[in-house]
Amino acid sequence: MKKLGVAVIGTGQWGKNHARVYKELPSTELIAVCDVNAERAKAMATQYGVKAYSDSTQMLKDKQIEAVNVCTWSTILAKEAKKALNAGKHVLVEKPMATTPQQAKKLVQTAQENGLYLTVGFLMRFIPGLQLIRQYVETKKIGELVCATAKRVSQWPERIGDVGVVKDTAIHDIDVMRFISKQDPVSVYAKMGSMRIKKFEDYAHIMLTYKNGESAFIESNWLTPYKTRMLTATGSEAIMRLDYITQDLWVEQKSENVQPRLPFQEPLKAELQHFVDCIVDKREPIITGQDGVKALEIATAAMQSSAKNRAIQLK
Ligand SMILES: NC(=O)c1ccc[n+]([C@@H]2O[C@H](COP(=O)([O-])OP(=O)(O)OC[C@H]3O[C@@H](n4cnc5c(N)ncnc54)[C@H](O)[C@@H]3O)[C@@H](O)[C@H]2O)c1
Repeated sequence: MKKLGVAVIGTGQWGKNHARVYKELPSTELIAVCDVNAERAKAMATQYGVKAYSDSTQMLKDKQIEAVNVCTWSTILAKEAKKALNAGKHVLVEKPMATTPQQAKKLVQTAQENGLYLTVGFLMRFIPGLQLIRQYVETKKIGELVCATAKRVSQWPERIGDVGVVKDTAIHDIDVMRFISKQDPVSVYAKMGSMRIKKFEDYAHIMLTYKNGESAFIESNWLTPYKTRMLTATGSEAIMRLDYITQDLWVEQKSENVQPRLPFQEPLKAELQHFVDCIVDKREPIITGQDGVKALEIATAAMQSSAKNRAIQLK
């Protein structure tokens, strides 16, 4: 079977995992890696026996490369994703996909015009427990979904990135809420601030409301000495709780509490395998570019809400 030729742009903390997984998957051939830090690119290329580039324009000329994962700093993602799409490559762009929804929409348009697949790194969707929550919500096994709460807190990251906690961290939960409820919020109200540094917000409380009265609450920060990543979905008949770190899932009903045992899977491996399968089988990835646009619109509205101290209505 022919392997799909792939490459990674941005070989930092997260990009190195993308490269490792591509090296491990039997259906992909890692052709090259690129990083503006030439030494970093070279070190990884040597480790995997692939080509190293410090300029993606050069790398993207390689016809063997059919798909590219963009794992650069958050504010550079859109620029590199656009270059890759214009070079005719399918693209998996990391979250938050772009700096503004307008930039994200442009990526969707470029992918469409070039007949290419574009997906966004909303990793949580590849955790089996979250997939089961969505299934139970959809089939009403937990009754009507009333509300959901997400908590994603940790201490200040070792490296300060180029976006705040909303676009870096809460955006995962913004996407999760869209994923499990299969609808978009009609309004967002948020409070956020910067405690440790002034450049970006490092804590945020975000409240989303839906047209039939359901609500979702997202707490994110970089101020908590321990790391917690939890989701609770409250239905009229049962509550589901997921620990993203351990992948433990609990279903609490009136009659009994159960803990479904789902096989642990490395979400990144499942995510990249899905992306590759979609390209080979010519089908749309479960996370579309439009999902990235929507999440970014909600994140941006949350930031406006906090700045203006009022709820923002979403279209
Ligand atoms: N989906 C997830 O769960 C998840 C997890 C971690 C990080 N991420 C995302 O991955 C991205 C990278 O995060 P990180 O922690 O690896 O950051 P990082 O700072 O460790 O790495 C980013 C790398 O990109 C390189 N780079 C910057 N501009 C470039 C360009 N134009 N061309 C080539 N290389 C370039 C930098 O030199 C650096 O090596 C971020 O957007 C982050 O939001 C997603």
